[in-house]
Amino acid sequence: MLAAGPRFACLRALAQSPLKLLVLGGTNFLGPAIVEEAMARGHEVTLFNRGRTNPGLFPTLETLHGDRHPQSPDLRALAGTRSWDAVIDVWPSDPHMVAATARLLRDRVGHYGFISTTVAYKDLTKAGAVETDALADDLTDAAAWYEFDKAQCERVLGLIFGERQAVCRSHILAGYRNPSDAFRMWAVRLARGGEVLAPGDGSDPVQFTDVRDVAAFAVLLAETRASGAYNVAGPRRSVMPFGEFLGQLNEILGRRARLTWVAQPFLDAQGVRPFSDLAMWVPVRTSRRPGFMQVSTAKAQAAGLTFRPLEATTTDEMRWFRDTMPATYEFGVGASNKGFPAARERALLAAWHARGR
Ligand SMILES: NC(=O)c1ccc[n+]([C@@H]2O[C@H](COP(=O)([O-])OP(=O)(O)OC[C@H]3O[C@@H](n4cnc5c(N)ncnc54)[C@H](OP(=O)(O)O)[C@@H]3O)[C@@H](O)[C@H]2O)c1
Repeated sequence: MLAAGPRFACLRALAQSPLKLLVLGGTNFLGPAIVEEAMARGHEVTLFNRGRTNPGLFPTLETLHGDRHPQSPDLRALAGTRSWDAVIDVWPSDPHMVAATARLLRDRVGHYGFISTTVAYKDLTKAGAVETDALADDLTDAAAWYEFDKAQCERVLGLIFGERQAVCRSHILAGYRNPSDAFRMWAVRLARGGEVLAPGDGSDPVQFTDVRDVAAFAVLLAETRASGAYNVAGPRRSVMPFGEFLGQLNEILGRRARLTWVAQPFLDAQGVRPFSDLAMWVPVRTSRRPGFMQVSTAKAQAAGLTFRPLEATTTDEMRWFRDTMPATYEFGVGASNKGFPAARERALLAAWHARGR
């Protein structure tokens, strides 16, 4: 929702006129949420992708096919006489790709929206990262190429589009079509019921965002021709303690699980890896980046970021699980990218209960 006042009256008017919107990507996870949101708000959407990921997902939309590779002749599909009010560039972390399309579109689109990440910050050792904080300058600042590359994408975009660009620095995403097991690991585990290993003492902070909230905000930035970067993280206006997160999730899923909070030193001694074995858990006491789960979202909230209830995110994740995975799906093995197998959880709980005996 846009705020009151003359400036916002003007933004509201802008937001109400349908846009000719180009979505670069659009068919995996966040992309479809952006496309659906834009269509629901009456915008005229064109997609550009290779036609490999979920082809036919949006049969009624114009889709231009081509490869984003900077040397690809396919980029010509974006050139010529076409023009758009705004573009939302959803997925790449390759600055060369972003530079090539941004240069090509500089005089053909009015506004360039880009999806980045909150891990692009140089320093996440403290709580409350804000948009003016420095981004990763080189690989020693970042945990991985992805993070440094996203920072570079933002820089090249700023040089090419100046004030006509806006960046969503998104936190961990959750929702329908989520390729990651992170949120799902907890939801499915709690839905299965029984004794569940919960990490630490419940006080560590957690942030994540419903993919549809990011989508709504990305479309709003295009509608209002917003400028600059915005941290986009939920699931609510303030950071949530892990205990509240698991407690609420358990309520939503029918209170089938009994949480056993296992102290971090015990988990460390057992070789349990925060964040990968126990997804979304970043223990403040020992993490190299304790600020990761405590970024400030004040600027995005003031610009109109809203949060849907945790029930909605949970329903979407569980629906995707039922639609695409066997009920017996085991986390932490095979294709699973987060969590740990049930047998390991049972063994850890048994060892925790037996300690000091
Ligand atoms: N998941 C998280 O927790 C998280 C957290 C923070 C930020 N983010 C950010 O959120 C975004 C999520 O991306 P998404 O995968 O959901 O985006 P998406 O737009 O839904 O899907 C990726 C799109 O890119 C297209 N594509 C891939 N390679 C291409 C190429 N070489 N040329 C042209 N098009 C190509 C794919 O179609 P084709 O294959 O058909 O070409 C597909 O349409 C990313 O920017 C990520 O960094 C995610």
